[in-house]
Amino acid sequence: MKDLAGKVAVITGAASGMGRAMVRKAASEGMHVLAGDIDEAGLAETVGGLENAQLMLTDVTSPDANEALANAALERFGGIHLVHLNAGVLTGGFTWENTVDDWRWVLDVNLWGVIHGVRSFIPRMLEKGEAGHVVITASVGGLTSGGLLGPYTTSKYGAVAIAESLHRELDIIEAPIGVSCLCPGPVATGIFRAERNRPDTYDDTCGPMSADAEAAAFHRALISAIDEGTDPAVIPELVFDAVRNDKFWIFPHPDFKERIAARTESIMSETNPEYTVGLPDAIPPSR
Ligand SMILES: NC(=O)c1ccc[n+]([C@@H]2O[C@H](COP(=O)([O-])OP(=O)(O)OC[C@H]3O[C@@H](n4cnc5c(N)ncnc54)[C@H](O)[C@@H]3O)[C@@H](O)[C@H]2O)c1
Repeated sequence: MKDLAGKVAVITGAASGMGRAMVRKAASEGMHVLAGDIDEAGLAETVGGLENAQLMLTDVTSPDANEALANAALERFGGIHLVHLNAGVLTGGFTWENTVDDWRWVLDVNLWGVIHGVRSFIPRMLEKGEAGHVVITASVGGLTSGGLLGPYTTSKYGAVAIAESLHRELDIIEAPIGVSCLCPGPVATGIFRAERNRPDTYDDTCGPMSADAEAAAFHRALISAIDEGTDPAVIPELVFDAVRNDKFWIFPHPDFKERIAARTESIMSETNPEYTVGLPDAIPPSR
C-alpha cells in the first residue's frame, strides 16, 4: 500500500512504547488514526496534540471490544486501511512457575488479542475491497525460544503462525491486503513493566522474576538490554517501509538472525538446541 495520506490506521497497544510511536508516525504521514489500549491516561498522552488521532479504550482480550474498535474506525473515519495488532504483555519465571493466571493473561493479550483483531478487522477490510495492510507485532521470541519466557514465547510463536497464515490466505483469495510480521529484539519500552496494566481478574502471579538466582540474573540482563534497547521511534520507520514495499518480515535487530539460523540448523541436523548463540550477555552460565 503506497498511498497512506488520508487513509485510516488502527493501532492497539497504543498507550506506550512502539504502539505510541506508530500512532505518531501514522499521524505525521497524514493518516487518520484510531489508537486502542486499556491504559486511558497513556492513550490520552499518545494522541495529545495530534489533530488526526483519536483514542478508544480497548481491551484486546475481548472479542466485543475488537468489534467495537473496528466499527468505530468505519464510523469515525469511513474506512480501515492499516491495522497494527501490537498490544502485548510479558511475565518472567520458569515455565512451571508461571501460574494459570500468568498463562491466561499473556495468551489472552498476545495471542487472543491478535486472533480477535484478525476476526474483527479482516472481514470488514475485505468487504470494503480497498488496499490495506495488517501488521502483527510478534518478536524474535516468536522464532527462537531460549527459556524463562515460556508464556511469552508461546504466544509469539502463535502470532508468527497467524501472520504467516494470513499472508498465505489473503494471497489465495487475491485480496489487496498485505501482511507484515514485526519481530523486534530489545526496544526501550515498558514491556518488562507490563504488570502495571495487569487487570485484577488475573490475580495469582509468579511475578516478573523467578525466585531462582540464575533465572533472576537472566531477567535482570534482559531488563537492562530492553532499557538500553532501540528507541521505539525507530520502529515505525521500518514498519512504514514494509507497508509501502509489501515486505512480510520486519527485523529491526538483524543480529538475532544468527539465533534463528542456529535454531533452524539444530532442527535440520537433528542436534540439540544451543540457546546461547547470539545472546552471550543475556544468558546466565549453565549450572
Ligand atoms: N520492547 C521489546 O523489547 C519488544 C521486543 C519484541 C516484541 N515486543 C512486542 O511489542 C509490542 C508492544 O510492546 P512495547 O514493547 O511497546 O511495550 P509497552 O509496555 O510499552 O506497550 C504495550 C502496550 O500494550 C498495552 N496492553 C496491555 N494489555 C492490553 C490489553 N488487554 N488491551 C489493550 N492494550 C493492552 C499496554 O497498556 C501498553 O500500552 C508487544 O506485543 C510486545 O510483546 C516488544
